[in-house]
Amino acid sequence: GTTGSIPGYTYGEPQVQHSPVTAAELDALKETLLWTDGDDQALRLAGDVLEDQVGDVVATWYDYVAVHPHLVAYFAPAGGAPDPEYLERVRARFEQWILDTCRRPYDDVWLDYQYEIALRHTQAKKDQTDHVNAVDRVPLRHIIAFIYPITATIRPFLSAKGHDRDDVDRMYEAWFKAVTLQVALWSRPYAREGDW
Ligand code: HEM
Repeated sequence: GTTGSIPGYTYGEPQVQHSPVTAAELDALKETLLWTDGDDQALRLAGDVLEDQVGDVVATWYDYVAVHPHLVAYFAPAGGAPDPEYLERVRARFEQWILDTCRRPYDDVWLDYQYEIALRHTQAKKDQTDHVNAVDRVPLRHIIAFIYPITATIRPFLSAKGHDRDDVDRMYEAWFKAVTLQVALWSRPYAREGDW
C-alpha cells in the first residue's frame, strides 16, 4: 500500500515497542465481546464499503470534535487555540486506522501498534510523533465515552452502498466490537500496575 506516505504512521515498523498484552489476553477480550468468525467477515465487508468514504467518516468525527471545546482542547496547548497542522497530520492516520480496523489481522504486529496508539494518547508519547506543543494527555474517560460517537456515526456510511439491513447490522455490530476491543487495549497504560 501507500501507507509509507502517512507522516507518523509506523505500523509494523521496528521502532514500535512490543505490547505487554499477550495473545491469550487478546483472545479472552474477544471472547468477552462474543467475537465470531462472522465478525471478521463483516469487518472485511466494512473495509470494502468504507474504503472510499474514510475521508468523509473522519470529517464527520472532526466536525463533532470541533464543536466541543472540551474535546478539541487536546489538539491545543493549555488554554490556547487548536493546532491545524496537528489536526491534519492525525487525520491521515485516523483514516488509515479505519481500514486497519477492518482489514488487518489482529496479530502481534497489530497488538504492538495498538499499544503505540494507546501511548500516543498518554503523557508517555502524546505530541511526540508530530512534534507539537499541545496538552500532554487525553484523559481515559473521554476515550471510553468516544466509543459511542465513533460507533453511532458509522452506520450511515455502512449503509451507503446498498447493502441490506442484515448486512449493515452485521457490519455495525462488528465495528462496535472492534472499537470496544481497541479501547479496552488502550486502557492498559492508564491502569495502575496490576489493575488492568
Ligand atoms: C490520535 C483513534 C479517542 C485525541 C489517534 C489516532 C487514532 C485515534 C487512530 C492516530 C493513531 C496513530 O498515530 O496512528 C481514537 C479512537 C478513540 C479516540 C478510536 C476512541 C474510541 C480520542 C479522544 C480524544 C483523542 C476522546 C480527545 C479529543 C487524539 C489526539 C491524537 C489522537 C490528540 C494525536 C496523539 C498524538 O499526539 O500522537 N486517535 N481516538 N482521541 N487522538 Fe484519538
